[in-house]
This record gives sequence, structure tokens and C-alpha cells, in this order.
Amino acid sequence: MSGNVRPESMKRITTEELAKEFIEEQVAAVKEQVGDKKVLLALSGGVDSSVVAALLIRAIGKQLTCVHVNHGLLRKGEPEQVISVFRGEMDANLVYVDAVDRFLDKLAGVTDPEQKRKIIGKEFIDVFAEEAKKLDGIEFLAQGTIYPDILESVGVKAHHNVGSLPEDLNFELVEPVKLLYKDEVRVVGKALGLPDNMVYRQPFPGPGLGVRCVGAITRDRLESLREADAIVREEIGKLDETPWQYFAVIPDMQSTGIKDGKRYMGWAVVIRAINTVDAVTAESVVLPWETLRTIRDRVIAEVPGVNRVLWDMSDKPVSTIEWE
Ligand code: XMP
Repeated sequence: MSGNVRPESMKRITTEELAKEFIEEQVAAVKEQVGDKKVLLALSGGVDSSVVAALLIRAIGKQLTCVHVNHGLLRKGEPEQVISVFRGEMDANLVYVDAVDRFLDKLAGVTDPEQKRKIIGKEFIDVFAEEAKKLDGIEFLAQGTIYPDILESVGVKAHHNVGSLPEDLNFELVEPVKLLYKDEVRVVGKALGLPDNMVYRQPFPGPGLGVRCVGAITRDRLESLREADAIVREEIGKLDETPWQYFAVIPDMQSTGIKDGKRYMGWAVVIRAINTVDAVTAESVVLPWETLRTIRDRVIAEVPGVNRVLWDMSDKPVSTIEWE
């Protein structure tokens, strides 16, 4: 797609039919741009990069190499799903990088949120660049840039996300969805056959669970967060109307629990569910007691080391959506 301004004449993609038209156009445009050359894509498993991957696989098949970096801060089941969808179902060229130890070792003992973000951002770029250098003959870099990223290049995402590719990786960009709004990217993803839980997933910060495992990340607390988060998302996901963003947080503190007549120290899991239009302000969602009670019972029964469940009822401002 050329140009960074969406033409007024461009139709809003709201139906499968319009999505199919868009896909055909973009498949042709990508073939034209890339020819028989090779393309590289960092595939996080988020909506935007997944849609770009599926589109490019349709256009150029194995000329695309997807690199999925598992930094250990993804949600439960995410790396497995990236592998099963893209390698299993779409027969993509997928390089899976298990960088969990590398990230968690670098993050050990680091408490400052912005420092954590910087480490995660820089390490990601380093791992990706290392993988890129191992591959021969790559000339293009595909990216899941979408229109709001262009419009809000000084917005929340730009403010939080740190780092860009080193200059010696001098690739031409392929950005097939850069003029689309998020809802349109989802319609296109659906038309490309991506699973609903990938296409309709809620926003997830680049540093992932790293900013929800408050303070210095430890492996055991991170694992408990991942389990608790899966329960929170599963149970809130059953509501007829799901909030804009909902997840678990695990603060860096312990409190007293009691089991078999004995006192012991354990972690607290916090439930966070908010509605917002643009993430600049947000309102805490009133959750049904039934849902809260089920989450409490499941978290206490299923998540190791947790003996308390809290509900964060704060609005933004003054509380940000994430805890860090
Ligand atoms: P806050 O916590 O600032 O979050 O109210 C606003 C929105 O931004 C997301 N967020 C991030 N997204 N990298 C991202 O890509 C980040 O470091 C980051 N921090 C917060 C947050 O999930 C919410 O949707």
C-alpha cells in the first residue's frame, strides 16, 4: 500500500465481501512489490501481525519467514497457538525462538516499570535482529502497522514501546494493512480464516505480562499470574457483553493466609476489567457477583501460591489501566 493517508474514497471494510475484495487487491500489490524476493515478519500472535502473516502467506507463501519470539511474558497458550495456526494450519515458514531464559535473566531484580519496558523492548529487537541475520537473502520487512498507529504516532503505543530495528538491517517495508482501522483488520482476519480468539482478542501491551507481574519479576509469581490471568479471561469472557480489556495482575507483596489451621504467606491476585473508547480515560466495569465469586474460587483452588483475590474498581484517571 503506498502513501500514508487514507483516501476519502476508500470504503470502510465492514463485510466479508469487502474484506475479500481488499485481500485480492493486497495479494496483487504484495506480489508486485516483492516479486520473487524474501520477506521477514515479527509475528507476535496479536491481531495485526497475525493478519499480515495470513495475508502474506496467501500472496507469497514460503517467501515469507515469520519469526515468533517467546519472551516468556505471553499469555497462557499463546506461543502454542501461533505454532499450531501458522505452522500447522497455514504451512508457514515459521521460526520459533524460545528466548524465555534470556528475557527473564535480564529482568531479574529490575523493579522500575520503564526500565522493565526498555529491557523487554531492546532484548526483543536484539533477538529479532539476530534471527534476521541468520537468514539469507531477506530484502523486505513486513509490519502490522495500522492506521491509528500512523495517526497517533505520538500516542499511547508510541509512548510505551521502545526501540526500532538496527540500521544495518536495511529492509524495505511491506505494510498491507496500514490504512485500516482495527475493526477492519479484524474483518479481514476473519475472511482470511484466522480463529476468533486471535481475531477478536483484546489489546495486550508489548511488554505483556511483564507489566502485570508488578515489581521485580520472579518465575514462580509470573507462572501464577499466567494461570490466574487465563481464569480471569475465561470467566469474564463468558459474559454476554465483554469489557474492552480484562486481565489479572499480581502485586509484589504477600499477605497472610490460613490452611489446615496454619498461617502462611501468599500472593494476591487482582482482577482488572475496564471499558474505554480510546484508552486515554477508562471506567472500571461492574462485574456480576457470580463471575467474581467463580474467579475467586477457581484462582484459590487452581493457582499455586495465591491466597487472596482482589477487585480493582479504579477509573482512569487517576489509575492507569495497567498497574505499571
Ligand atoms: P495505561 O496503563 O497507560 O494503558 O492506562 C493504556 C493502554 O495502553 C496499553 N499499554 C501498552 N501497550 N505497550 C503497549 O503496546 C506498553 O508498554 C503498554 N503499556 C500500556 C494498555 O494495555 C492499555 O490498553
